[in-house]
Amino acid sequence: MAELPLHVGMPDRSQSLYQSLGEQTFRNLVEAFYRRIDTDPFLRPMFPADLSEAIGRQFWFLVQLFGGPPLFNERRGPPFMRMRHMPFAIGMAERDAWLAHMLAAIDEVEIPEAEAEVLRAYFDRASLAMINRP
Ligand code: HEM
Repeated sequence: MAELPLHVGMPDRSQSLYQSLGEQTFRNLVEAFYRRIDTDPFLRPMFPADLSEAIGRQFWFLVQLFGGPPLFNERRGPPFMRMRHMPFAIGMAERDAWLAHMLAAIDEVEIPEAEAEVLRAYFDRASLAMINRP
């Protein structure tokens, strides 16, 4: 299946989420998300023992995607997110658990409702695209 860029269908305003929320908010979001992954017995085994590098990668990706500097491309190359997730068995249950942590992290970090909605819509749709197992 051809890989669609993950920004397809994103509202234009999401390009400036980096500016409106600021880099620290993205850092806080990723940290809140990975704190939840760390204590989830279902998803934790899928992730590396040391989460600090995973935190960095997720942060670089989100900063870049939402209009900040191209940190992910500089450090990891082209995103190819669906391809990068192929080694992990992601079915609907894994996706739902992942998304629940991300939505909880969005709630935990103080994000204005309009921007929070853009993030929720993005993660909801993009996480479906990561499903690679029945
Ligand atoms: C909105 C959807 C998602 C986005 C934007 C996303 C983003 C990312 C990024 C940027 C990385 C690092 C890739 C790299 O540099 O190699 C990553 C890794 C990973 N993702 Fe996702 N992901 C998403 C959905 C999911 C889902 C649904 C799962 C299933 C549980 C998942 C599991 C993983 C795992 C296990 C890794 C490896 C951790 C690491 O070492 O960085 N992801 N993801």
